Amino acid sequence: MSTPVKKVPIHLQSAQNRLLIKNGKTVNENEIVEQDVYVEDGIIKQLGRNLLIPGGTRVIDARGKYVIPGGIDPHTHMQFEFMGTTSVDDFYQGTKAAVAGGTTMIIDFVVPKQGESILDSYYAWRQKADDKVCCDYGLHVALTSWNDKVKGEMKTLCEKHGVNSFKMFMAYDFYLKDDELYGAFQRCRELGALAQVHAENGLIIKKNVEKLKAFGVTGPEGHEMSRPECIEAEAVNRACVISKQVNAAICFDNISTGQSAEMIKKHQTPGATIYGTTLVSNLALVGDSQNMKTITSPPLRSNPDIPDQIWGYLASDVLQLTGSDHCTFTREQKEMGKGDFSKIPNGVNGVEDRMSVIWEKGVHSGIIDPCRYVAITSTNAAKLFNVYPRKGCIAVGSDADIVVWNPSKTRVISSKTHNIAIDFNIFEGMECHGVPEYVIVNGRVCVDEEQLRAVQGHGKFVETPCWAPFIYAPEKMDELTAPKNNGALNEIELTNKLAKIELEPKLCITPTLPDSAISTPSCRGPRPEGQRNIQDSTFSISEELDVERKSCIKVKNPPGGKSSGFW
Ligand code: URP
Ligand code: ZN
Repeated sequence: MSTPVKKVPIHLQSAQNRLLIKNGKTVNENEIVEQDVYVEDGIIKQLGRNLLIPGGTRVIDARGKYVIPGGIDPHTHMQFEFMGTTSVDDFYQGTKAAVAGGTTMIIDFVVPKQGESILDSYYAWRQKADDKVCCDYGLHVALTSWNDKVKGEMKTLCEKHGVNSFKMFMAYDFYLKDDELYGAFQRCRELGALAQVHAENGLIIKKNVEKLKAFGVTGPEGHEMSRPECIEAEAVNRACVISKQVNAAICFDNISTGQSAEMIKKHQTPGATIYGTTLVSNLALVGDSQNMKTITSPPLRSNPDIPDQIWGYLASDVLQLTGSDHCTFTREQKEMGKGDFSKIPNGVNGVEDRMSVIWEKGVHSGIIDPCRYVAITSTNAAKLFNVYPRKGCIAVGSDADIVVWNPSKTRVISSKTHNIAIDFNIFEGMECHGVPEYVIVNGRVCVDEEQLRAVQGHGKFVETPCWAPFIYAPEKMDELTAPKNNGALNEIELTNKLAKIELEPKLCITPTLPDSAISTPSCRGPRPEGQRNIQDSTFSISEELDVERKSCIKVKNPPGGKSSGFW
């Protein structure tokens, strides 16, 4: 028996594709405007007041709320085979959670097995994702080996498959050596792609792990001990130096310390194209080294000053992006590393909570304004990965990936209510002001009055073309839209914003040298007063590992800039 076809009157036929968001304040990186937004067939068609709208259009009242671009999370690992297991959020569960939290695009990492064709691996990732995603997604491709075949396939990925970024790990078994990094960065430069870097000195971590185990350290505290801050800062410095030899644009994917951000700042000299992403976990949490559930790399730092330091660099545009590094393993999976910290699968959650946590810690706490919030949660990622202004802004012609953000409502993060597949949440109990009341994904209301109505397969793969104007022709950016600034604070503003926060970075850096000779932080600074010893403490990695202790200069500058203020 055939199903009867209902006749829908013509004026109602596309009513579900039409949406008017009224009375809100749109937020872009450069301005906040009181205006309505009219959406049709997944695209923003009109902005302004008193718009002429077809009958039958659904109206959402956004009075007292912000209307912001959907978040873009540039760092996720869905259904990722890693450290002998697989992360449990697949592309359905992970993107559903993303949408619940106000993120409307993710960029996941294809990570080929060593020696595997990067093209085949890309196809495999497309297969895992295409039918499952609830929001749009793009792909970065990791280079886990380096040879001529990889070089050739990079070109194919760029020219035929919409990939414009390649990731190089400096840690894990699949790290690239310095000369390989050189080759890979150079190839990225030739193709107009972006080189992304996981910066940690993997060989030294390995040595530290061996030594710690020999001393009988087996618990989760060994993880951070084997990867002190300078292990990251050294790798950041090295990657910057190498990228400068071949004039390549690079972006660090998980900056977790003030030392590393300071290193990036030193290398951001005229002509250098160096960007930095930090992670929501680093911005909001102080690591508890005994907790295996929060093990990720680089580690969540137990130094309580770190989140404020990183906020400083993010507010002042030394760092531009925020990601989640969402890579979820259950308690049971984490237990694989019981008795051997080096076997704890690395990774934490964040794709669902990134938008709320960053609003809470950044905007609600008064460090950044809503414009900078938009810049660091979507616009800068859209620009760097070349999907701007299609995404990352509220503009006529842009995809209708929109969040109606209610800054007056609060929610408490809990594993009892979250939408991810693990049985705990690293942000458990955090109260966040700012709730995504409506989340519109390509014109469809997927969170409706806070009720999640994500649709499997509604998202699609979005190509990220090479030669992003933001990187390679910044003078052209004004033609795309007219950003007046990117919401970044100047030094005085930053100092004022941070004035209420007691922090003393105590970075350990060498005096300013010519850029060509920037040296590496070679020791950890003195432990700030009141800071917990990470192991309460039978063992000190820096002493036992004979880490060279050069004299440290106590820096009196705020993160992100010099100041004559309270610093
Ligand atoms: O620890 C993490 N972040 N796991 C995922 C792989 C990576 O390092 O990005
Ligand atoms: Zn990652």
